[in-house]
Amino acid sequence: MKIDLLDPASFAHGHPHEQYRWLRDNAPVYWHEEPGGPGFWAVTRYQEVDATGRDPKTFSSEPTIMIADPTPESGTSFGDHKMMLMMDPPAHTHFRKIISREFTQGPAQALKPRVEALATQIVDAIIERGECDFVAAVAGELPSYVIADLVGIPLDDGRKLYQLTEIIHTAREALPEGAQLQAVMQMFQYAQGVYRDKLAHRGTDLASQIVHAEVDGRRLDEIDFQLFFMLLIDAGGDTTRNLVAGGLYTLLQHPAVLAELRANPELIPGARDELLRVVSPVIYMRRTATVDTEIAGQKIRAGDKVVRYFGAANHDERQFADPHRLDIRRSPNAHIAFGAGTHVCLGQHIARVEIDCMLREVLTRMHDIELAEEPEWLASNFISGIRRMPIRFRRGPRVGAGRHADAG
Ligand code: HEM
Repeated sequence: MKIDLLDPASFAHGHPHEQYRWLRDNAPVYWHEEPGGPGFWAVTRYQEVDATGRDPKTFSSEPTIMIADPTPESGTSFGDHKMMLMMDPPAHTHFRKIISREFTQGPAQALKPRVEALATQIVDAIIERGECDFVAAVAGELPSYVIADLVGIPLDDGRKLYQLTEIIHTAREALPEGAQLQAVMQMFQYAQGVYRDKLAHRGTDLASQIVHAEVDGRRLDEIDFQLFFMLLIDAGGDTTRNLVAGGLYTLLQHPAVLAELRANPELIPGARDELLRVVSPVIYMRRTATVDTEIAGQKIRAGDKVVRYFGAANHDERQFADPHRLDIRRSPNAHIAFGAGTHVCLGQHIARVEIDCMLREVLTRMHDIELAEEPEWLASNFISGIRRMPIRFRRGPRVGAGRHADAG
């Protein structure tokens, strides 16, 4: 079996399940060559992917969670400043605490009416057209609006920043020279404006909380803010978008399940978690061993890169019965699409609200959905997703349980 988890082509039609299966069965901690780098351990079984997320003392998020070590293009550190995603406790704990309350179940549920209204507005904009690029017109809209609302910037700016995120997540070789660095600089420049604005006019939004926060008696500075801002825009944008688009694509391949969901929207929460498992929008997160250690009997040296593959873990036969079957009633469904342990996705409750609202809106109002062209996948070995998916559909008649169903 040819193993190549670096080439974006391996992810050009979704996760490389054959490679993953071979790795889980034959080399669950596999030494992967890295052109221009030292190489890394690819970890593919659920148990080890989970455990390595829960032990930051041995498996550090510093200096980065990407396979390649930080460069100016990655926009994840600046001098001695770092993004929270790349910190270990105790610094990570302090930074995460600044905003974690807003991301708990209660506040996430409180966003629901607003998220429902935004989802309705998004489908309103295309419902009469009968065709659209589902990714740009539907799946990508809600996450950028929700983040914009949360941080306290205009919705339209949220949309523009999200376009930058896509560039930042695309494999560098698939972009014009310098495009990534330029996108990072534009994001930082925008964040600088927000910092100055929120410093002068404190609001109740997340950006104001971060601007006025203190860690160890020190006020966060402009660079801390820029990195925090970039993380928030980055983390919640194309991940959620890719789940909604990849989720619809998966459902289109399972028409009976799609019909069942459309008729019974109360099944959406179960379906959403199953789609998170199947789609796994984040391909990997790296850790770096801080000491000589072992994973599943494999010796790991201090300094080695340990790369945890979520899509592989989410299809591990040792954890999930019949993992390649889409089962919207799967229970329990302890998928690891949001990661595990110290850095487990802070936005997971908000993401769930967004996904539920968007799926409900799409399934209850857009009927007879079909692909107008084959989808185009993102050229990335980090984020898995569809970047363009032209579809045709018809405006549906009212569906009893749909909250915002059309009169038809
Ligand atoms: C389907 C959607 C999403 C997926 C699959 C996803 C996935 C993930 C994963 C795998 C991590 C773990 C990183 C690690 O272990 O190193 C993470 C972290 C994070 N996510 Fe999400 N995410 C999603 C949506 C969101 C949303 C909507 C937000 C914000 C509104 C968000 C904010 C964050 C933040 C701030 C972190 C960093 C947490 C930390 O470092 O402690 N995510 N996410």
